[in-house]
Amino acid sequence: MSQDNEKRIAAESAASMVHDGMIVGLGTGSTAEFAIARLGEKVRGGLRIKGVPTSERTANRARNERIPLLDFSQVTRLDMALDGADEFDPALNLIKGGGGALFREKIVAAAADKLVIFADSSKQVEKLGRFPLPVEVNPFGWQVTLEKIKALCPEVTLRGGSDKPFVTDNHGYIIDCGFGQIDDPAELERQLKSIVGVVETGLFVGMAQFVCLGRGDKVEVLKPRA
Ligand code: A5P
Repeated sequence: MSQDNEKRIAAESAASMVHDGMIVGLGTGSTAEFAIARLGEKVRGGLRIKGVPTSERTANRARNERIPLLDFSQVTRLDMALDGADEFDPALNLIKGGGGALFREKIVAAAADKLVIFADSSKQVEKLGRFPLPVEVNPFGWQVTLEKIKALCPEVTLRGGSDKPFVTDNHGYIIDCGFGQIDDPAELERQLKSIVGVVETGLFVGMAQFVCLGRGDKVEVLKPRA
């Protein structure tokens, strides 16, 4: 089975957890687009939901699918957030932000009663860190922030390069950090968040309740393991 098919069946399984009346966070990325397409079909078939998009890209997709959207300023709580991941471990800690939407994804996930992740089988790891950890920083003084992050992680790259940095929807820059194996994601999150200039990290520790994992032609629904 192709990776795209694993993404599709995982995303559709997560979309089946969405019920009438829910306010749903809509994640960003290629897997999320399968979920948005399925939710769009359901909405056109009569499902009444409201979506909160985690990026401009997702907002456009959802509008094309005719999913009614709420601005994040209109909600303080969501029933569920659906999103993809770049990696997840057995405790369902995540690395996210490969698509650069980590700040909005995290703030939406934190406001949701449940975070449901969909992923193809390449995203499952024993320890996080093979995927470079995206860290969003404020552009003001980003060079100083990068030097401070370097003290924790020598392998750092400004996404897009200093001539034309990638700019997030949130007007931030992203520093991709090649930590290698991350033994204590919670501690690393604490250390990174203590650096002035760091806006948010792509570590989502203890936030996901379920991962819908596409493997071959089946979906496994995983819960966190200690
Ligand atoms: C977006 O910023 C990310 O957090 C995505 O959720 C993550 O990169 C997964 O993307 P794919 O579904 O495209 O692999």
